[in-house]
Amino acid sequence: MRIAVLNGPNLNLLGDREPSVYGTETLADVERRVGAVAAELGVAVEFAQRNGEGELIEVVHALRGRADGAIVNAGAYTHTSLALRDALAAVRVPFVEVHLSNIYAREPERRHSMLAPAAVGIIAGLGATGYELALRGLVAALTPRA
Ligand code: DQA
Repeated sequence: MRIAVLNGPNLNLLGDREPSVYGTETLADVERRVGAVAAELGVAVEFAQRNGEGELIEVVHALRGRADGAIVNAGAYTHTSLALRDALAAVRVPFVEVHLSNIYAREPERRHSMLAPAAVGIIAGLGATGYELALRGLVAALTPRA
């Protein structure tokens, strides 16, 4: 099984960016954590981070027929990008939406997700651990039960 982990704008600055909101772990730390869980579960993971909406959409298009699932933290595009949701629906790659912070406890403009209607599930507010849980949940959802 192959899972893609996609991060959107400003998530390359994790660790340094508003640590009181997003914590002190870097994106590399998050990717290491996810990699460890992937090894435990016996699945392959690949990582991408893009700051541009179009760039992110290109990455999603490239998943078509290659990835079995995706973990997506689209950053602020979560709240605005119908185009990104359309791209995820178009490639038919099941995805879990992740946010480090609890977007539902923040400013009103962060409390709506354009992606959520197309997501398998959503994890918000658990920091980097959310990515690990998303991987476990997604792999379980994609694994046929005996
Ligand atoms: C975020 C929440 C978004 O509102 C914000 O724009 C981000 C990060 C999170 O992980 O908590 O960039 O997706």
